[in-house]
Amino acid sequence: MQCEMVCALKSFQVKKMGSLGLLAVEVPEQFKGAGLDYLAYSIAVEEISRGCASTGVIASVNNSLYLGPILKFGSEEQKHKWISPFTSGDKIGCFALSEPGNGSDAGAASTMARLDGDEWVLNGTKAWITNAWDASATVVFATTDKSLKHKGISAFLVPMPTAGLSLGKKEDKLGIRASSTANLIFEDCRIPKDNLLGQLGMGFKIAMQTLDGGRIGIASQALGIAQAALDCAVDYAEKRMAFGSPITKLQAIQFKLADMAVALESARLLTWRAAMLKDNGKPFTKEAAMAKLAASEAATNIAHQAIQILGGMGYVTEMPAERHYRDARITEIYEGTSEIQRLVIAGQLLKAYRS
Ligand code: CAA
Repeated sequence: MQCEMVCALKSFQVKKMGSLGLLAVEVPEQFKGAGLDYLAYSIAVEEISRGCASTGVIASVNNSLYLGPILKFGSEEQKHKWISPFTSGDKIGCFALSEPGNGSDAGAASTMARLDGDEWVLNGTKAWITNAWDASATVVFATTDKSLKHKGISAFLVPMPTAGLSLGKKEDKLGIRASSTANLIFEDCRIPKDNLLGQLGMGFKIAMQTLDGGRIGIASQALGIAQAALDCAVDYAEKRMAFGSPITKLQAIQFKLADMAVALESARLLTWRAAMLKDNGKPFTKEAAMAKLAASEAATNIAHQAIQILGGMGYVTEMPAERHYRDARITEIYEGTSEIQRLVIAGQLLKAYRS
């Protein structure tokens, strides 16, 4: 019963986001999107995640990881078919890159795509797929020739449900528990030849460029979680009395709040800079990785300190602090771990010094 209520509430929230244009912020109006820019998208995901980080990631995956690559690499026909119905909240999409045997090493994909007449036949398993149980389509990455390594990978558009594609169990997660995460299992799943997205062999670059944008979305989600944790800590500290006055009079608490605010504001500026570079057509791979690294680590640290300020009340489910702490943790893992962000930043930095 409780599960049914959560599903109904989630469906209501998704439809509400769709009606407000929040599921397709950057999509032009001609394809039924809001026609705004990436900075607007970042601010929207932050504010949604401030209220609910699960709802934030549902929006972020639909905007950045599903609609993003179709908008950039899709044909006109594909855009009409695979974008417009996914803007209103009636349908949402997902993005299938990781596999049980490879997450950070995205180029090692072993899901196979074979051309048979006018159809692609997909076989393999994709893992940790956000929105899996709620999605009506996925962008999936599969290799047509594993010996070519990342150059053998292509991107495909697959409707859901479809014959030959089944869902794994819903993962039981530490946080973002209202978003569904599951495996996508392809067993002789046939899709039309025209469902190839972009050129054959371009899949790895499509995935990397998509993740550059996606990381701004996750940085924004982390900002929302961090802001909510700070809001909760300040509200509690202003009301909690100790030693004859509210604990905000204590320097021990003031120092914590100051550090939390600085970490949050710095991460927000990095995130907005990355979004503005993207909006201006400038390279933003390094800046998106910096934003995600800074914002996700800030969210974890700020949520940690918020619990410390609340003391025992921070540790119980009566207050939202423990939820922010659980929700923050995933932002250091998905769409590239903090270690991968550091690799990307160092790679870009060294390239600039060497050129
Ligand atoms: N933009 C465009 N091209 C890029 C690129 C980028 N950001 N990054 C790499 N490339 C290109 C390179 O230029 C290179 O091109 P050539 O073959 O023409 O030379 C090619 O891709 C290979 O590059 P690398 O040698 O750097 O690739 P690599 O195998 O060493 O991997 C990596 C690099 C950064 C580690 C990458 O694999 C990576 O980002 N891994 C993390 C994957 C990830 O973030 N997964 C998240 C899963 S999705 C998710 O979490 C979704 C969810 O549900 C929320």
